[in-house]
Amino acid sequence: HIVRLKDYRPSDFLIDRVELDVRLDPRATRVTATLSLRPNPKGRPDAPLVLDGDELVLKGLSLDGRALPAGEFEAGPQALTISQPPRQPFTLTVETEIDPTANTKLMGLYRSGGNYCTQCEADGFRRITYFLDRPDVLSVYTTRIEADRDEAPVLLGNGNPVERGAVAGTNRHYAVWHDPYPKPSYLFALVGGRLGHVGKTFVTMSGRPVRLKVYVEPGKEDRAGYALDALERSMRWDEKVFGREYDLDEFNIVAVSDFNMGAMENKGLNIFNDKYVLASPETATDADYANIEAIIAHEYFHNWSGNRVTCRDWFQLCLKEGLTVFRDQEFSSDERSRPVHRIAEVKTLRARQFPEDASPLAHPVRPQQYREINNFYTATVYEKGAEIVRMLKTLIGDEDFRRGMDLYFERCDGTAATVEDFLDAFATVTGRDLGHFARWYAQAGTPRVTVGGTYDAAAQTYRLDFAQSTPPTPGQPQKEPMAIPVRLGLVARDGTALPARSERVSPQGVFLFDKAQDSLVFTGVTSPPVPSLFRDFSAPVRTSLDLTDEDLLVLLRHDTDAFNRWQAGQTVAMRLLVALATGAAAPDGNFDALAQALRDFVIRDAERDPAFAALVLTLPGESDVAQEIGADVDPDAIHRARRELRRIVATVCRDALADIYDRFAETGPYSPDAASAGRRALRNVCLDLLAAADAGLGERMASAQFEAASNMTDRLAALGVLTTLPGAAREDALAAFGERYAGEPLVLDKWFTLQASIQEDGTLQRIRSLMEHPAFSIGNPNRVRSLVGSFAMLNPTQFNRPDGQGYDFVADVVLRVDPLNPQVAARLLTAFATWRIMEEGRRNRACEALRRIAENASLSRDVADIVHRSLEDA
Ligand code: ARG
Ligand code: ZN
Repeated sequence: HIVRLKDYRPSDFLIDRVELDVRLDPRATRVTATLSLRPNPKGRPDAPLVLDGDELVLKGLSLDGRALPAGEFEAGPQALTISQPPRQPFTLTVETEIDPTANTKLMGLYRSGGNYCTQCEADGFRRITYFLDRPDVLSVYTTRIEADRDEAPVLLGNGNPVERGAVAGTNRHYAVWHDPYPKPSYLFALVGGRLGHVGKTFVTMSGRPVRLKVYVEPGKEDRAGYALDALERSMRWDEKVFGREYDLDEFNIVAVSDFNMGAMENKGLNIFNDKYVLASPETATDADYANIEAIIAHEYFHNWSGNRVTCRDWFQLCLKEGLTVFRDQEFSSDERSRPVHRIAEVKTLRARQFPEDASPLAHPVRPQQYREINNFYTATVYEKGAEIVRMLKTLIGDEDFRRGMDLYFERCDGTAATVEDFLDAFATVTGRDLGHFARWYAQAGTPRVTVGGTYDAAAQTYRLDFAQSTPPTPGQPQKEPMAIPVRLGLVARDGTALPARSERVSPQGVFLFDKAQDSLVFTGVTSPPVPSLFRDFSAPVRTSLDLTDEDLLVLLRHDTDAFNRWQAGQTVAMRLLVALATGAAAPDGNFDALAQALRDFVIRDAERDPAFAALVLTLPGESDVAQEIGADVDPDAIHRARRELRRIVATVCRDALADIYDRFAETGPYSPDAASAGRRALRNVCLDLLAAADAGLGERMASAQFEAASNMTDRLAALGVLTTLPGAAREDALAAFGERYAGEPLVLDKWFTLQASIQEDGTLQRIRSLMEHPAFSIGNPNRVRSLVGSFAMLNPTQFNRPDGQGYDFVADVVLRVDPLNPQVAARLLTAFATWRIMEEGRRNRACEALRRIAENASLSRDVADIVHRSLEDA
């Protein structure tokens, strides 16, 4: 069954109020839902009432207090239908019984580590009770939660706490929560369990106190402090930058160890994968701290972009996700280093969204149709969705962007909105027609922009000729030109500023390129310039520029735009990597030129911005190179090419790298702040490169660092270097690490990931053994992702083994996980999305593995959808 955007119809009924009574029990939880229903004036007048269900068992049903006779309704696991409901407001009381212990899908009400929790987005609420489980039905919820006192001393719900007490004559107690803000069912949540917490009071900008709490497994409270701090900073930032204030008396975050995604923005009760809450210097890396900060912020920001203004239907998912990712990116940029964060964002986009956009799974940021909505929580919806918001801001400027955001929140507060509502707010404040720009939501595929420059010395003009095209994607064979903001400038070869002008470039330095072809002429150009294009990555496009390596190295040295300084080095390195991997000729001199430019850069700039230097010194990844080559890819050749280029660069830079490694040695106690993290990042990149120059030296240094490290960042980085060097030192270190953290599942995940990423023939066997490790569990999403997901996503030579064993292994795991947890299985399967760019032999093997999955009769809708789209036209 396919759901289509064009078929949207308002609900025939509305539910104004929901009273839920949930009596928690490990195997038989009783849910009584009292729903205040009325016909929707916008619905069909004589429609039946059809409530959604999923694996539900009905235990009782009454309408306006009268038990409904069997003939007046039909109840199955998937739906509850009343064909002749009243045509005026009425009350329906629905009783269901569910088994949270048997819920391995981790959707609806389930148990994690003995605690009860829920996940309702996108369609999990229908696994708790029969409901109009769609985002445009907004209700005010009152929830009574009852449980055994010992099993669940803590009882949490949405909104504000209103009452709690004992259940007379039993060992049970209850809590009542009321959420005054109408919300869709996907934002419902409850938690019951034994939990410790840390907390503090936050005073909002209008002076209202809010009690903040972060709940974790008892004994782990000391690892929750950073999350609490990040929450407080997020709340302050949203007040300052977007004028958004929090609106309840409490804000609770709960960390659980079994969770399908990163976290969930349930109103007033965010539930998190504990990986994105728990942190201590001994167990978390700098990257973990940065992720925690970003995800805490992301979920908090949803309170306005997602909850107060929600989505009319799931096609509008990017309305809340793209916007909220943009908001969390801006937060992290303000809290950390803006250019460094921008580069990290673009690396993620290129590593995850570009491959998706070039694959059989490509889809518009606002899809037109879906079979399974949970398969559309993608890099395209999230990351490209955020890029669209960023482009809008680039085009209209900071002030109009803020005015448009204010108008959007004002107009749409309390409603379920669409992408059109969002764009209309900006069209109103600017008076601009955003019709062409809106194409970014509808057209899939990554545009390619080709630019050529011509200098006329006599006229002192410089002309840039732009051309764009977007490749076909599933269901969209023909493409239209996109409205592409190009932030640009000209750089003189000696690094001085050029007094160049063009009428078509805005005072902020932005040119709007919105036709298939266009040209831009600068006047007053006194010397031949190097163009710096797509500064700050002003649009999510691929580019072909007719710049020489020498031009690019001018940019690396002199561009005022930090993103393009980094990009210039990456572009030169990418050219060399592609040449090496495909056997094309690249002049030897160019390898030296890059290596020397990087050495000069390190000597000059490392101290000033170590985090940035670490990024400049990191060559494009193997999968980036595979994407750039784009067809008939041989991952082994790419792996060899990258090793070779790393060796060349590291050999030339060796003394400078060793010098930094010594100078940047940690002194004081660990602090997760961005500046300290940047110093560690640079030092660890130096270690990694030194090992590329000299394996023996690398092994000695990494072993010493592994032993001496006082924090997880340095210990894991050392272990990471060791895993690239086969031998006893590596195996000893892996064993020591495994023992040391035997009781720390989140740390063992890192250990699983490192071992799954080893690019050697023996890795598959290693993974098979690790699947027998006592800490591994096929039912836990974090464990499956860290061991098998990392293999599929981070180990290109072994996943894409020429003998097909990598594909077969992942296919087997997909088939094993699918009956337990379809969402995790489907996500794992997306690793196959790049199969068509492989060379013929691998392509055939991957296709066989996909076909073997497709042949299975009992696939979940999640896996069936991914496998069928992956195979389309094959
Ligand atoms: N709204 C959540 C977030 O981005 C993601 C929840 C997705 N869950 C799912 N089962 N598809 O913060
Ligand atoms: Zn989100």
